[in-house]
Amino acid sequence: MSKLDSKANMNKVAKANKWDAKSVEPLFIDESFPGGDYDVLVIGAGPGGYVAAIRAAQLGLKTACAESRETLGGTCLNVGCIPSKAMLHASEYFNAASNGTMAEMGIEVTPKLDLDKMHAQRRDAVEGLTKGVAFLFKKNKVDWKNGHATFQDAHTVKVGDETVTAKNIIIATGSSVTPLPGVEVDNDKQVVVDSTGALELNAVPKKMVVIGGGVIGLELGSVWCRLGAQVTVVEYLDKLLPGMDDDVRKEAAKIFKKQGMELRLSTKVTGCTVKGKKATLTLEPAAGGDEETLEADCVLVSIGRRPNTDGLGLENIGLETNQRGQIEIDHDFRTKVDGVWAIGDVVPGPMLAHKAEDEGIACAENVAGQTGIVNHDLIPGVVYTWPEFAGVGLTQEEAIEKMGGDKSKVKVGKFPMMANSRAKTNHEPDGFVKIVADAETDRVLGVWCIASVAGTMIAQAAQAMEFGATSEDIAYTCHAHPTHSEAIKEAAMAVQGKPIHI
Ligand code: FAD
Ligand code: NAI
Repeated sequence: MSKLDSKANMNKVAKANKWDAKSVEPLFIDESFPGGDYDVLVIGAGPGGYVAAIRAAQLGLKTACAESRETLGGTCLNVGCIPSKAMLHASEYFNAASNGTMAEMGIEVTPKLDLDKMHAQRRDAVEGLTKGVAFLFKKNKVDWKNGHATFQDAHTVKVGDETVTAKNIIIATGSSVTPLPGVEVDNDKQVVVDSTGALELNAVPKKMVVIGGGVIGLELGSVWCRLGAQVTVVEYLDKLLPGMDDDVRKEAAKIFKKQGMELRLSTKVTGCTVKGKKATLTLEPAAGGDEETLEADCVLVSIGRRPNTDGLGLENIGLETNQRGQIEIDHDFRTKVDGVWAIGDVVPGPMLAHKAEDEGIACAENVAGQTGIVNHDLIPGVVYTWPEFAGVGLTQEEAIEKMGGDKSKVKVGKFPMMANSRAKTNHEPDGFVKIVADAETDRVLGVWCIASVAGTMIAQAAQAMEFGATSEDIAYTCHAHPTHSEAIKEAAMAVQGKPIHI
């Protein structure tokens, strides 16, 4: 089915990139479809889609991007990463002022919450960044088609009333909240909400129940807990934060309890009734047992997200989703339909903005005939609570499993933030850094951090691992003093059994 693209097009791509046209790998296109309005149509303008569109345009391809929202940036910029971080950042200041942290440093303040203003600065951040994407589209000559996109065939998409044809189509439709049967979300009423509703609450709830002790539950639960809500987290599993290293998950429970959250682990929600402004939840032990009830002024449903493919017309191009509703792709982000590619939350892998962005770049490069690669083994994950929780690579449990269950084949070095001079000076005693390494080769397999700036610290670990670093490489790298990052160096030294400051 595949055929070389036109010479003219290859010259155009080569010229945009200042390459020798002869050395450029040609585009692969469906033989039966030589032309079209665009070289590339991206469906969805989240961090996967908008980045793919800009990269494709940078590579000299005529590009359009279809987005049904009125603004660009997808979940991440509109109702996800950015607004949640705006609320986390602001509430962190409020908390520092109200929980005695500032007083400890000789600053006596009594904070007064102006929630409207806090929301206004959140909306401001969102507006600025979504407009920024619109500016980047203009600058890179990406055409934005505003409307819901539905495939008519593999090269034809209906966007609202317009029909758009393209040689290549990248699906980047993202994900939405997974509903919980029996617990109906109504964001307008502000009693049972999802993450979008939880960002918009116009008053601090007295009692808030968070269903799901994952990333969203803990981030947004933290926001309202800091602002004064009594927060109970109901989690089906016996630990918070699935996917993270076990030590990190255990420590998370201690930290959030200390901050005043009530944790109901190994518990499931079986139903919810709403009367006026109050919700009554029924709970059961996850393994089954006696039912009990829990009252709340606000319930946040945060039990995961699912891929967006409704109304996309996949049936018109013979593309099916897998059991989890995801679109399967190969290593190059191609679906099984020629000329149709997919990236981001709608494909398998962690649902993270930076993963979607990297896939967007790599996919656009593959469409242009270059070699775009994402190392899916090294996608860092960060929970932006206080302190932050971050990790990259394998957990200790995964590393042991990979070594056939032989614990002696995995070495671990751990260093507490309490012994890190900067964290101690800053009154940030919670957390640690843990490095998991191959006992034989010393190669670093995973790094896990709990620290106020763990999300920033983890970048060095990802980079070191991308270059195949050993723990000794990290231990002998000079780290500036006094920084939280010195804890990474010390944890690496601990892998060798020789940390200095503990
Ligand atoms: P999306 O961002 O979901 O974008 C897809 C876009 O496609 C949407 O705008 C949608 O309107 C559009 N669309 C869908 N179908 C169609 C169609 N048929 N036609 C036209 N348009 C369509 N990740 C992080 O890495 N860090 C964080 O701090 C973080 N915080 C988060 C906080 C919250 C509250 C939430 C909900 C998510 C958070 N995430 C975070 C996850 C992150 O937002 C997603 O992983 C990321 O947005 C996925 O990008 P995407 O481009 O695949 O899809
Ligand atoms: P999640 O998968 O992180 O957590 C969901 C939690 O709910 C799990 O712990 C799960 O065991 C639990 N659960 C499932 N069903 C349940 C039930 N019936 N009762 C009680 N608990 C139940 O999903 P979450 O928090 O909704 O986030 C969705 C996605 O958004 C994540 O995949 C994450 O990658 C992304 N995200 C990333 C952020 C970041 O990078 N900082 C921030 C927010 C979201």
